[in-house]
Order: sequence, then structure tokens, then C-alpha cells
Amino acid sequence: MLLQSLKLGAAASLGIQMSRAKTFALKSGFLTELTGNPLRFPPVFNNGGTMTLASRNVVVWPGTTTQVTAINGSYPCPTVRVQRGSVFSANVVNQLSEDATVHWHGLIAPATMDGHPKDPIVPGGSFTYSFPIVQRAGTYFYHAHAHMLTAEQVYKGFAGLFIIDDDNEIPLGLPRGDFDIPLVIQDRRSASQPQFTYSPTMIDVMNGYLGDLVLVNGTPDPYFEVSRTLYRFRLVNGSNARVYKIAFADNHAFHIVATDGGLKDQAVSTTSFLLSPGERVDILMDFSSYTLGQNVVLKSLPFTEGGGTQGLELNILRFDITGNQNSGGVVPASLPSISYYNPSDVTRTRTFILTMSMSGGAMHKINNRSFELNRIDEEVPGNQLEEWRIVNGTDEFHPMHIHGLLFQVYSRNGNTNLPPSDKGWKDTVLVNPSETIRTLVKFQDYNGIYLLHCHNLEHEDDGMMMNFRVSGLTEVGNANEGAPSGFQLHQNYPNPFNPTTTIRFQIPETGFVTLKVHDLLGREVTTLVNEVRPAGSYDEVFNASALASGMYSYELTAGSLSLNRKLLVLK
Ligand code: C2O
Ligand code: CU
Ligand code: CU
Repeated sequence: MLLQSLKLGAAASLGIQMSRAKTFALKSGFLTELTGNPLRFPPVFNNGGTMTLASRNVVVWPGTTTQVTAINGSYPCPTVRVQRGSVFSANVVNQLSEDATVHWHGLIAPATMDGHPKDPIVPGGSFTYSFPIVQRAGTYFYHAHAHMLTAEQVYKGFAGLFIIDDDNEIPLGLPRGDFDIPLVIQDRRSASQPQFTYSPTMIDVMNGYLGDLVLVNGTPDPYFEVSRTLYRFRLVNGSNARVYKIAFADNHAFHIVATDGGLKDQAVSTTSFLLSPGERVDILMDFSSYTLGQNVVLKSLPFTEGGGTQGLELNILRFDITGNQNSGGVVPASLPSISYYNPSDVTRTRTFILTMSMSGGAMHKINNRSFELNRIDEEVPGNQLEEWRIVNGTDEFHPMHIHGLLFQVYSRNGNTNLPPSDKGWKDTVLVNPSETIRTLVKFQDYNGIYLLHCHNLEHEDDGMMMNFRVSGLTEVGNANEGAPSGFQLHQNYPNPFNPTTTIRFQIPETGFVTLKVHDLLGREVTTLVNEVRPAGSYDEVFNASALASGMYSYELTAGSLSLNRKLLVLK
């Protein structure tokens, strides 16, 4: 009879600290004690509620506390989980003694909601972020983005998961519920344990602030008990600078099913992949080939790329195989298709050269410039396919991230045969030393100022970042798609607003026109136009002083035609 894993129920009577659950497993004929901490999961954020940012002492290592930058008292910060098509909002209250912004990484949000460092919430202040969820389901996250404070605030704990679900994906049969597990991976320095001391030297700014131990969902030395079945793991690299080569210690194969921007168009089997800061990859792992009592460790394998400062071999998370439940999930034989951009449709190519030099001031630059908060470095027309070519002129990794859209990687050093973690929708791409990456980008949703930067947060804070401005888009969520020409409803301006904004619309022929504002439950709030009008273009001023803060929609009708858009009242 196989000796199965034993849970030490009588831990207390044996004088063992209860917070350290102990498991015994049969290893080469001996009963070996397994140590560690059960994997933690952050609390779920109540959409529409308040996120209070404050410095707190929380238990990270059992028996002691760590001073962290927490949201609602939690490190990691609470998990946001919303449906595609819903409206997300959070009132963020800054109780820190320094500026803060929240950036919704990978989320397509209006520029004013993007957490740009030029829009700080001052100490004691608050701001309501709100935007409709217009994009694909997937594993996203949010984190600090204040000017030159991003790296330190993230290291102290200011980051959390942002998961978008889509009921249309349920029929695919992916593992769900208790078998759909987010894993936020962050490294910290054992030398300062139990504190998250952040004091980068010049060498740390060059290499990034690297740690030598890994926390998963804020859990040190973590283990997770699994059944002999298929799981979905959503891996988020929430580290400041460390790149992981994700693999199982026994080289067990798994499937990659999603990249930054949600599901791929097929599940791809592999045994390892690189995951750089800011990137997410969802994998499907089947534990049915293990026996009860066995364990397998998720690791970062050693590697030599990245200037030699990366590539430390690390244990990430131990899976203890302890159950026989069936998740009912499958590796889908096919996934919804992705339409890939065609490089021959590119209207313009921009080149971004990444350099590092020791000569005075900021060391990290893009096209020879370091970041300036209010300088616009590129003007980018919306709805045009562009090639953004990123050239790494250094011998270090640079995970490059673009705000305001999801893009596609086209080639690495001319090679279009891409690793599975590159192929699909992306918002961050790891640029290897001396590599040139061609990406295809098309801004389709919002006008305004967004960022391109290295997601090695020390490099970012040291200036490897630039502003670009998207303009010319009149469509939000493709409201005008399919409408006859001459019938148009523009996005209100300004938006968000308080108390007045202007709504522009156009009608192609004389007729009866209505323009009404509804709340998100579909209740009519006000009527702005309700009469016969000649063909032409109109600007209606809408005064919302009687309305509460929040998202509303406005609808234009003329005969059998109608169009609608969303607007945001912010008080
Ligand atoms: Cu995840 Cu601008 O960052
Ligand atoms: Cu981002
Ligand atoms: Cu970098």
C-alpha cells in the first residue's frame, strides 16, 4: 500500500507553529518533512468600491510583520475581477505621504484613467478611476505608476491582479473556479527579510533591483495542494526586474493558452518559457500523471542571457499532489481565431533605440532621450497600423511595454517563428540583448497621452520611458461601426467632465432626432434633443450638475437609426 501524504493534524500538541502547515511525503523510501506556507490569495475587490492606499504592517513571513504599501490593508493588493462589457470603477484614496497613481496594466482605458504619472493623486487626495471594459478576457494587473516612484512603490507591495472574464469563453471547457489559479511572482532580497527594504545602488539601477527569493501571491516558500487533474495557472511577473525561465523541476510538459491580452488561437505544448516583468502567460498543467503524496516544484531554470546578472536558479512554488478531484477542464482542441495584422498594411515605421550609458544624469534612454513628464515624444494617428521597431543597443534585457492598446509581435531579429509566449495579443515584449523586435501596433480606442517604457522598473524610473499622443480617433468601442455615412455620434468632450461637456452629432437628412442620456441600468436620465432637425452637424452642451458621479450612456436616434456612447461624470 502506498503511503500517502499525511497532514499533521496534531501540530499544536507537538509544539509546532500552526501557521506553518507541515506535510510529509514519501521520498526515496523515507518519510520526509515538507515545510513552507500555504499559497495565499488576496481578497477580491468589490467593483465600485474604495481602494485605500496606505503603509501597513502585515504578516508575510509567519511570526513577524513586514511594512508594505497596501490597498485596503492587503498585500498583495486586492484582486479585481470583472466581466467584459461591464464598467469598472474604484475610488482610490491616497493615504501615503507621497504621490500615487494607479495604472491598469494591459487595460484599454481613456488616457485620463490610465494612471499616467502626470496625473498624480496627491497625499490625502482621492480620485475615481472608471472605464468600460472593452477588451478581451484575460489576466491583467494594476500597479503604482507615480513619477520616479514606480519601482519603490511596487517593490513595497503596490500591485494587484485584474482579471477579465467573458461568459462566451465558458464553452471552451478551460478549468474554472478552484482550478483556475492566479500566481503573481515577485522576488525579494533575503538580506533584508522580513522587510521589503528598497535602496538601489547604481549597480541596481543598471541591472534592476533583483532579489534572491520568490514570493507567490505574497507567500514566501509557498506550496499549493492540487488534485490529479488539469489546472489553469495565470502567471503574472510582478517583479521589478527579474526575468524567470518558467519550468517544472521534472521538466513536465504543459500548454500555454494565453498571453498578455487573453487566449491564444491555439494551446501550445512546451516545457519552459521566459516571463519578463509585466508579462502574463496562462498555462494548463495536468497533474494526473503524479501519484498522491508526490510533489513537483515550479522553478525558474538557470540561464545565461541578459547580461549575466539574471538567470539565477530559483524555486517558485511547490505543488503537493494530495487529491483526486476532477476539474472537468480540458485542453481545448481549438480556440477562437486571432486576426493577425498584415505588415504590408503598415503606414509608418517608428524606431526606438534603447541605450544605457554612464555619462551624467539618467543612464537609460530611448532614442537618446530620457523621460520628461510633459514632453510629447511621438504623435500617433489612431486607426493606422504602424510598425514599432525596438532596437536593444545594450547587453541587458528590456521588457518593453506600451499603454493604451494590445499589439502583436511580428519578428525577433528577422525571425517570424516566434515562441508561444510571443504569439497572440501582447502589451509587453521582452527585448533580448542586441535584439531588434518588430511589433505591429494600432490604436483604436482612445485619444490622449500614453506611455512606452521598459518594465524593468529601475530602468523605467531612470528614464527609459516616453510619452506619445494618440489623436484622430472619433470612435470609442466602435460606436459608429456600420452606421450610414453622415450619421455620426462623436465622443463627448471633455470626458470625464464636471459639470458640462459637449456632444457632437451629425445627421444626413432632415428628420425627427432624439438625443437621450441613460444610466447604466437603462433608465432615462435626461433628454437633450427631441425634435425635427435639418440635415447637418450639431453641438449639444450637456450640463450634468444634477447627476451623481459615474458612467452614463447617451443615445442618438434618427428614424430607425441609433448610435450610443458612454460618458463619465466625475465630481
Ligand atoms: Cu505595467 Cu506603464 O506599466
Ligand atoms: Cu501598462
Ligand atoms: Cu530596461
